[in-house]
Amino acid sequence: QDDLKDAVAAAALDEIRPLLGQNIIIGVGTGSTANRFIDQLAGLRSDFRGAVASSEATAARLKGHGIDTFELNEAGTLPVYIDGADEVNAHFHMIKGGGAALTREKVVAACSERFVCIADASKRVERLGDFPLPIEVIPMARSYVARELVKLGADPVYREGVVTDNGNQILDCYEFMIDDPVAMEARLNAIVGIVTNGLFAARGADVLLLGTDRGVERSTP
Ligand code: A5P
Repeated sequence: QDDLKDAVAAAALDEIRPLLGQNIIIGVGTGSTANRFIDQLAGLRSDFRGAVASSEATAARLKGHGIDTFELNEAGTLPVYIDGADEVNAHFHMIKGGGAALTREKVVAACSERFVCIADASKRVERLGDFPLPIEVIPMARSYVARELVKLGADPVYREGVVTDNGNQILDCYEFMIDDPVAMEARLNAIVGIVTNGLFAARGADVLLLGTDRGVERSTP
């Protein structure tokens, strides 16, 4: 799987190559696949202006490679955002947040013209939900939100010991298969105390680079 991650990271570089030399700022995601992308991106660092990171961990890795990082507020709209996923379906809806970075990931994705999802074939699913859906909550609202999630049929589990980059906590929703990701994302957004849910459906990926044994498959919805 490490080879597949390297392959999709290389394919992501091909996605941004036409934009190089235009002083762009690139949105960069979080996780082991995104890390492979960052490592490869380092070789091109003189051909773009810098990056907006979706987490403190990603910012540290970018800086470690000498890539300048920018606050999203100063960067404006980004031409492209590259990130992994925990699950992705045929409509390019995703579950994200296994690395607890879902809020900043969703914000940077929203601020980007194109979301390029990089993933190995194990992430491709028919129906989202085998991977427990992460939900970032304001700490004082955790128990309330958990009770609301139970009403929706989920089995929420507090991810103990994890504090997000925003100072919040994570509930992981087990036993929660999702038939209509767009509707469920909106429903979860309406629960007070939830900062962000890990469904990326209203704004899914625009390009999927899937690493398979036969090579990288590129598809668009
Ligand atoms: C981080 O919060 C997640 O959304 C990641 O994008 C996701 O967990 C994918 O990570 P890997 O590339 O390590 O599988």
